[in-house]
Amino acid sequence: MNTIEIKNLSFDYNGLCLLDGVSLEVKRGELVRLTGPNGSGKSTLLKLIIGELQPKGGRIRLFGQDISAFRDWRKVGYLTQNKAGQANFPASAMEVVMTGLYGEKGNLRGRALEALKLVGMEGHKDALIGRLSGGQLQRIMMARLLAARHELLLLDEPMAGLDAEACEMMYGILFRLAEEGAACLMVSHDISWRAHIPRGRTLCLEYGSVVELGREQLAREMENRHAHPGRAKV
Ligand SMILES: Nc1ncnc2c1ncn2[C@@H]1O[C@H](COP(=O)(O)OP(=O)(O)OP(=O)(O)O)[C@@H](O)[C@H]1O
Ligand SMILES: [Mg+2]
Repeated sequence: MNTIEIKNLSFDYNGLCLLDGVSLEVKRGELVRLTGPNGSGKSTLLKLIIGELQPKGGRIRLFGQDISAFRDWRKVGYLTQNKAGQANFPASAMEVVMTGLYGEKGNLRGRALEALKLVGMEGHKDALIGRLSGGQLQRIMMARLLAARHELLLLDEPMAGLDAEACEMMYGILFRLAEEGAACLMVSHDISWRAHIPRGRTLCLEYGSVVELGREQLAREMENRHAHPGRAKV
């Protein structure tokens, strides 16, 4: 069973066709990277997968179930692309991480602290999030997802704003989660993916559809991060 299964998905913004015949699958244990030019529809695709937007046509299944019937959203973690607005309320890093555990039982503070340690932010647990830097806030939002132990992670540019060391730390965490059975679909332009090519797949969304990039196309993308490799099938 695929954790995400999308068949022939189409979507319009006000009559303007954005996605046209998108199909993709993500399995348990897989880390899949989704790339593509700015404005190609990557964030929109994630919003369709979490049900925030309704497709014009096609099908989305999560854990084998059509999303219209899917109710087990606790299994799904979502990191949005624009987190600036989230920093404007008076809460500590620890409190933000704990909001990801709402309704759960057990030692929640312990779980939150463990997640903060994973992303190297335990020293900032009592800091107001409005006083954190962009990269630090990014780590806190990741800790919030990690604490919740989701089975599916949908991450919109999780590496944005992270320094090289933090990126490597994040890849380490994500690959470990995948090894433990999570499925992860990550939107990213990050070229430090180069070192991890053998461990994950890369999909490219361009001109409304998704193609998987082969080794040569990936090498080209990595050589010139602003160039996109085109639609050739692999
Ligand atoms: N709420 C909206 N109403 C109308 N058009 C929108 C809306 N949100 C996004 N769009 C348009 O849809 C297109 C795709 O946007 P989307 O945010 O999905 O792109 P993206 O691939 O994530 O880009 P980026 O790499 O810059 O994050 C863009 O042209 C954008 O202007
Ligand atoms: Mg986006």
